[in-house]
Amino acid sequence: MNSQQIGQLKIMREEITRFMMKYKFALDEMETKIEILKEEFQALHDYSPIEHTKSRLKSPESILKKLSRKGLSISLESCEEHIKDIAGLRITCSFLSDIYKVSEMLQRQSDLKVLEVKDYIKNPKPNGYQSLHLLLEVPVFLSDRVENVCVELQIRTIAMDFWASLEHKIFYKYNQSVPERLLQELKLAADTANALDHQMERLQHEVQLIKQSQPEDSLLEELRSIQISNQQFKLPSGLLEVLSKD
Ligand code: GTP
Ligand code: MG
Repeated sequence: MNSQQIGQLKIMREEITRFMMKYKFALDEMETKIEILKEEFQALHDYSPIEHTKSRLKSPESILKKLSRKGLSISLESCEEHIKDIAGLRITCSFLSDIYKVSEMLQRQSDLKVLEVKDYIKNPKPNGYQSLHLLLEVPVFLSDRVENVCVELQIRTIAMDFWASLEHKIFYKYNQSVPERLLQELKLAADTANALDHQMERLQHEVQLIKQSQPEDSLLEELRSIQISNQQFKLPSGLLEVLSKD
């Protein structure tokens, strides 16, 4: 490699780093938003609709493969325009209704632009795949400009996630041509996962009702303190006296 080529490689490497970084920052922004929702819910409702999150950046190699598979030109502009899952974020929820709660809370945030919603829960894929997919545009504030960056968000239950990860493994193990019998079994497993999700949803409702009829003593004890993150604060006793006067 001559010195001119090394120079070109350096420039290209820097451009790709810059390009990838803005997607990383968009994921950071989203993760903070989700962490806030999670903590707020935990503190106010003693329950979080978000089980866990996982984010990933698509590797330059997979981006290139996807561009060639789709017959698109190879450039950063082309990546930005056509590859919408460079930044990917997955939220796993405990319950079906949590998926829509989380999705609505995020869609209402004024700095996020919703580019697309695909509801594979209302309309599962023929193989049984279920999840709620959102394409969001996130503003990223850099040193000298604001970039609007696309993030693909998948929201699913634990059961949906369990199914999708197994299906993904099988799909790749069989080099993308899975035997018919396995496809049928996977579809059955997806139906079972779906039935479990509905059963858990019903159970959760019942548990909530039991919680609401908590005995007064233990409720009063709970009301005497607040928990912010890992810190617990006792409410000032003066405050309680003021309230109990009238
Ligand atoms: P690409 O497949 O990314 O080109 O775009 P698309 O428009 O088909 O997007 P879609 O919303 O259908 O899927 C995007 C992502 O969802 C995939 O990259 C997977 O992570 C996930 N996904 C979609 N379908 C399936 C499926 O059948 N099985 C599994 N395991 N994951 C899926
Ligand atoms: Mg696809």
